[in-house]
Amino acid sequence: MINKGLFSSNTEMWGTPKLLFNKLNEEFHFDLDVCAVKENAKCEKFFSPEDDGLNQSWFGNCFINPPYGKDIKFWIEKSYKEALYNENVNVVVGLLPARTDTQYFHNYIYNKAEIRFIKGRLKFNDGKGSAPFPSMIVIWRKNENT
Ligand SMILES: C[S@@+](CC[C@H](N)C(=O)[O-])C[C@H]1O[C@@H](n2cnc3c(N)ncnc32)[C@H](O)[C@@H]1O
Repeated sequence: MINKGLFSSNTEMWGTPKLLFNKLNEEFHFDLDVCAVKENAKCEKFFSPEDDGLNQSWFGNCFINPPYGKDIKFWIEKSYKEALYNENVNVVVGLLPARTDTQYFHNYIYNKAEIRFIKGRLKFNDGKGSAPFPSMIVIWRKNENT
């Protein structure tokens, strides 16, 4: 049976693959998952939809795998600004769809962060099979923002 959610650009719940998160966590030692619910949070500290991570002040080493709907642009802008302007934030690391034609990619990622394009398609935690889009890891650090 076809999993309709897998093909919807509005799907919120592309859960980070465990092995990928563990690998990133070994490198970055995350303090905060900025968007999650209790069941899928990758860190002890996280912001839920009730907290609204978009309107919180972030801190430490932040991990973000945002909701992939149309509001993703606000999460990308927030990630960039928190990494650049919030003194309490050390780094923001995002698992994101590699949509290189978008305004947000050019405004807040390209030449503004380290980008690691992922070879092949990810198998997200809650999808069946491979994702229908390419992914990338984006690392915003203060000294990489222009
Ligand atoms: C792609 S999932 C990622 C879940 C998990 N952090 C992970 O990496 O596997 C995005 C999550 O963001 C949550 N979310 C949606 N809107 C939010 C908001 N305004 N503030 C915080 N979390 C939100 C959704 O409930 C969902 O669990």
